[in-house]
Amino acid sequence: MLDIEKIRGEFPILSRKVYGRPLVYLDSGATAQKPQQVIEATDRLYRELNANIHRGVHYLSEQATELYESARSRIAGFIGATSPEEVIFTSGATASLNTVAYAWGDMAVRAGDNIVVSELEHHSNIVPWQMLAERKGAEIRVLPFDEAGALRLDLLPSLLDERTRAVAVTQASNTLGTRPDLRAVIAAAHAAGAIVVVDGCQGAVHGGVNVAELDCDFYAFSGHKLYGPTGIGVLWGRRELLEAMPPFLGGGDMVDRVTFRKTTYAPVPLKFEAGTANFVGAIGLAEAVRFLQRFDPAGIEAHEEALLRRAAERLERIEGLRIYGTTPGKCAILSFNVAGVHAYDLGMILDKLGIAVRTGQHCAEPVMDHYGVQSMCRASFALYNTLSEADALADGVERAVKMLRS
Ligand code: ALA
Repeated sequence: MLDIEKIRGEFPILSRKVYGRPLVYLDSGATAQKPQQVIEATDRLYRELNANIHRGVHYLSEQATELYESARSRIAGFIGATSPEEVIFTSGATASLNTVAYAWGDMAVRAGDNIVVSELEHHSNIVPWQMLAERKGAEIRVLPFDEAGALRLDLLPSLLDERTRAVAVTQASNTLGTRPDLRAVIAAAHAAGAIVVVDGCQGAVHGGVNVAELDCDFYAFSGHKLYGPTGIGVLWGRRELLEAMPPFLGGGDMVDRVTFRKTTYAPVPLKFEAGTANFVGAIGLAEAVRFLQRFDPAGIEAHEEALLRRAAERLERIEGLRIYGTTPGKCAILSFNVAGVHAYDLGMILDKLGIAVRTGQHCAEPVMDHYGVQSMCRASFALYNTLSEADALADGVERAVKMLRS
């Protein structure tokens, strides 16, 4: 059993008030709050150890480099990577996915090839593939989802052929919470000779991952949704793919030798880490992982499931309210609309009650189009939320709907 009150006490922001009311933070899908140990670790770095990594023989630089590289090892362990060299630090999942679409895509995709993208995806796992397809004259094929939000895996074989180079799929939808059967997707894609690129932004924090067991080819996630700092993310890739790929960004630290005649590159992972790395972010992210590793993953999962169930049960009683995404085993993300009420109006009234939810398209416009709506309200839960916050959401929605309908 998790001691939620004790956990909440480790997140300074959760004790603040907004508009004179206790903050009910239900927007962790957009960015999670940070525990004290992450705040302290980054603060300490700036106070005591700030120096550029991989570039100095002086004490501070060596200390910072050691912390940065041990952050890489901790994160490798956290995601089940077989070696830390397969972990590349980026500025976030968007940069990770763009790195794959550019570096791997430019190497592997030719005119007439195709890339399968699931309809559940966040824009960051759609647009880089469309840009690649435009550059190369390749085709994007969409794997749709059904009314409940489940991917239509029965249609996958008809989309895969010998020209399919990649399948882009989320581990957990940021809008519907769906957790697709990735093993089935990966097995089918590999049988067709395609690689699988997984957006793990929500999956890494809701349930975690073991990339070696999953057998995917690339896995991307952001630090800030995992209780870590903003501006840091990870791209994990199979070593042989990373080694075969050309670099994406050129600059300092990613090179072996530079002459005007020819430049050679550093080995992975540095080949993909041009410029001064966000070492403070990486070390902060490792601290967030250390924070998470203090808890039993099954306990976190059970708590988040209870939050989701409670919020869904209460919200479903509200007349005209529709929850989008009802697949079994979904993660703790709850998007909804109320008939005759605009999501923005609802979100604004909830805000005045101290309840933070996300409203809009959630960077997933194709999901909105699927349901024929412009926007949705989204409550996304984290390990620090309580059942009374789930109740506060439902009470707030009831109150807002009454006001907006009267
Ligand atoms: N991608 C983030 C979200 O889902 C911002 O809200």
